[in-house]
Amino acid sequence: MTVHFIGAGPGAPDLITVRGRDLIARCPVCLYAGSLVPRALLDHCPPGARIVDTAPLSLDEIMAEITRATAAGEDVARLHSGDLSIWSALGEQLRRLDALKIPYTVTPGVPSFAAASAALGRELTLPGLAQSVVLTRTSGRASAMPETEQLSLFAQSRATLAIHLSIHVLDKVVDELRPHYGDDCPVAIVYRASWPDQRILTGTLATIVDQVATTAMERTALILVGRALAAEDFRDSALYDADYQRRFRGRGE
Ligand SMILES: C[S@@+](CC[C@H](N)C(=O)[O-])C[C@H]1O[C@@H](n2cnc3c(N)ncnc32)[C@H](O)[C@@H]1O
Repeated sequence: MTVHFIGAGPGAPDLITVRGRDLIARCPVCLYAGSLVPRALLDHCPPGARIVDTAPLSLDEIMAEITRATAAGEDVARLHSGDLSIWSALGEQLRRLDALKIPYTVTPGVPSFAAASAALGRELTLPGLAQSVVLTRTSGRASAMPETEQLSLFAQSRATLAIHLSIHVLDKVVDELRPHYGDDCPVAIVYRASWPDQRILTGTLATIVDQVATTAMERTALILVGRALAAEDFRDSALYDADYQRRFRGRGE
């Protein structure tokens, strides 16, 4: 029996992969991770499926659900919000499954930073301006940041930052970034990207704290920072340049 870990996407129920949807439809047990997984995805479960919200459960209790299902010969669909590669607790669950020799698969999902970029209608990397995106967070109650991963260190690169789990400390984030990016650097806050109540605020490092103070943006929001968010005078990429096409296309590049 197999546990299928599935990235459920950022919120809109049709932003799951076809593979993920089909796996949900095949599994008699579905464990989903709390409020960020859209309930409409559970409609894909087969009739009579055991559906469990794991938000209030400990890791041991989640493992008990999985071992009970596999002992009964049942496949499990395990849903986490966004993609599984970041802040999904995938690592600790796979380690337990490896120890128990329970087979699993991992199906990626649309991460929230990609949904936020789509909501803004902006590419996060632009020629000459930003060629890297840093997916990061600030310290939380449960997890401290490693010393080598402080925001101010990432900020020295001036890459586009996608800062998760941090809207409640926006003022501290802004204070740390201002010396590196400058007061006029564009910032976008995308709240619940792709959900029906999605909201977007755009401003600069100088204005964004006051802008957010007048709204009720809590918890499920991404802070995006970087010049690529508002630039218009960037050069075209080489990819579609006619000369580049003549010289490199057809050579497998
Ligand atoms: C535990 S992390 C999960 C990240 C997820 N695995 C992903 O791929 O995006 C939760 C954080 O991701 C961000 N997030 C998740 N879904 C979001 C959405 N729809 N809109 C904006 N931010 C979102 C928020 O910063 C939130 O605090």
